[in-house]
Amino acid sequence: MTARLLDGKAASAAIRKEVADGIAALRKERGIAPSLTIVLVGRDPASQVYTRSKARTSREVGMGGDLIQLPEETSQEELLGVVGRLNRDAVVHGILVQLPLPPHIDAGKILESVDPAKDVDGFHPLNAGRLLLARARTASGPGAIPFPGFAPCTPAGIVELLRRHQVPIGGREVGILGRSNIVGKPLAALLMQKARGANATVTVAHSATRDLSSHTRRADIVIAAMGSPRFVKADMVRDGVVVIDVGINRIADPTAKGGYRTVGDVDFDAVRRKAKAISPVPGGVGPMTIAMLLSNTVRAAELASRAAGTGPT
Ligand SMILES: NC(=O)c1ccc[n+]([C@@H]2O[C@H](COP(=O)([O-])OP(=O)(O)OC[C@H]3O[C@@H](n4cnc5c(N)ncnc54)[C@H](OP(=O)(O)O)[C@@H]3O)[C@@H](O)[C@H]2O)c1
Repeated sequence: MTARLLDGKAASAAIRKEVADGIAALRKERGIAPSLTIVLVGRDPASQVYTRSKARTSREVGMGGDLIQLPEETSQEELLGVVGRLNRDAVVHGILVQLPLPPHIDAGKILESVDPAKDVDGFHPLNAGRLLLARARTASGPGAIPFPGFAPCTPAGIVELLRRHQVPIGGREVGILGRSNIVGKPLAALLMQKARGANATVTVAHSATRDLSSHTRRADIVIAAMGSPRFVKADMVRDGVVVIDVGINRIADPTAKGGYRTVGDVDFDAVRRKAKAISPVPGGVGPMTIAMLLSNTVRAAELASRAAGTGPT
């Protein structure tokens, strides 16, 4: 068997088109210009690439916004001041503070300072709580898990990738590798919801899990989010499995441009021969994450306009 590719590039292009159409309609019919402000502190090379890519993609779909780049020495108080100003600025609908922050800044404090109504990354404790209580939303369109609020972009993008490839989730065994606050935990919360498009039986494995393979071999869908290059081998999954690879790992490769290349947490070539469907790295979950960020921002603009009484009742 050679697996079908779960193509995040194509799925995200479709979402970006929907987002662009939504933005054009909001501008024309209600005079709203959805806007995303991204805040980057310091010079972390990966964060610079990610934030530039997010800013460029948001411009491409017609979204307004800004990329605020602050020096590494920015104090916590100064950053809280910037976020506070963005919270009060009615033109700004979505705020994203890029992680990781420099070690002298308490990331939790900063994330809690973002207005939950502008928290398009879905990391504010209020949105995290809403998600756990089944009150967060993934995406628009038929089959989307139908909750009001913001779900974190990577988990929401994974659910959307499965949905757009008609991979059934309800009643399936899903094995998630990794329990981080940005991927594993919110993903488990989304997939276990009692809702159409969810309803999975979820197992979350981590570094203290015993006999990890016994869990992955049982799973209909394996989702690897560990940050461990090519960790998931063919003998760890069963025939006909669906595999989502969230990992982004740089490995040395003297033949590649720049001397390294990016691989996922799954041994792609070997696992692909056993799987029914698999997402590649790059070109799988990554583009979906950005698409969901844009989708969340449009949603934030709609909600703000409704709250201000300029939208439909
Ligand atoms: N494509 C995207 O848009 C996107 C977005 C976010 C993250 N990522 C990528 O996804 C990966 C995970 O990111 P993250 O932020 O969730 O990472 P993280 O915070 O480092 O969490 C990694 C998780 O994997 C678990 N883990 C690590 N090694 C393990 C092992 N050998 N056996 C079992 N469990 C193990 C850890 O267990 P413990 O909790 O016990 O330590 C932890 O729960 C990274 O490669 C990251 O770059 C991609």
